[in-house]
Amino acid sequence: MIVLCVANNKGGVGKTTTVVNLAAAIGKTGRKTLVIDADGQGNATYSLTGLVHPTPSLYDVLMEKISLEKIILPSNEEFVSIVPGDPRLQNIDIELAAKPAREWKLSRALRLIDFEYVIIDTPPSLGLLTQNALAASQHVIIPVSLSEFSLIGMDKLLATIDEIGDELNIEDLELLGVLVTFYDETRLSRETYGILEKKFEERLLTTHIPKSIKLEESHRRNESIVSFLPNSPAGLAYTDLAQEVIKKSKASQTPYSRKQQRRS
Ligand SMILES: Nc1ncnc2c1ncn2[C@@H]1O[C@H](COP(=O)(O)OP(=O)(O)O)[C@@H](O)[C@H]1O
Ligand SMILES: [Mg+2]
Repeated sequence: MIVLCVANNKGGVGKTTTVVNLAAAIGKTGRKTLVIDADGQGNATYSLTGLVHPTPSLYDVLMEKISLEKIILPSNEEFVSIVPGDPRLQNIDIELAAKPAREWKLSRALRLIDFEYVIIDTPPSLGLLTQNALAASQHVIIPVSLSEFSLIGMDKLLATIDEIGDELNIEDLELLGVLVTFYDETRLSRETYGILEKKFEERLLTTHIPKSIKLEESHRRNESIVSFLPNSPAGLAYTDLAQEVIKKSKASQTPYSRKQQRRS
């Protein structure tokens, strides 16, 4: 089982859009995929099911009221299931504050399930939900919007992810790659892309996601772009991204084995 999360503390960079469409595109290859909606806005849940804040949700799992496999819902996409999120997740930092191993709740919950891919959507913050997502993941994808890119913000994010990795003593968390989103053929886009290529080299994913109004439309239709408009530029990009992710994550049949590490 491969577990990956999509993280960036900035909002509006295409995290949820990437989770939903990447999962759908991996599902189209016949691989059993689970999306976990760890954002209280529940946008991934809505996009994949049309449901607004169904309960029980991931909140109840993190609070240890129910086990994760009991709340898995089918989605509108083939081979894709979802663990929904709801607004109560926004209080999780406070509610888990005094609990032991509070960063490891999600990782523990995943031990009982069996999917080929688990893809976790995270909120625009680096609080406990994102920490739980990182602690549960072998890979992280960081989407970067070319419309409002800042190198300073990016460096800070990478440093923080390293810090969280060190703090939690996670040895096998890897940056699968930085994903360019909102790409368009303007000079500014091309220049920024060039800067990112220099900075990240092979850690910049080859696939980039074009700016496309169709992504918003497919979200509202509760349909992925790879189902709604598979041959559109954005549809093709997410299909390519799935291939790149499958290749880079070296899918294995080994059971999920992330263990909680002791703080060093
Ligand atoms: N490549 C893109 N081109 C155009 N609009 C996009 C693209 N990716 C996402 N969007 C839209 O931008 C908004 C923010 O995207 P979203 O995936 O929700 O970001 P995040 O989860 O990082 O906050 C949404 O309305 C979404 O439909
Ligand atoms: Mg989001």
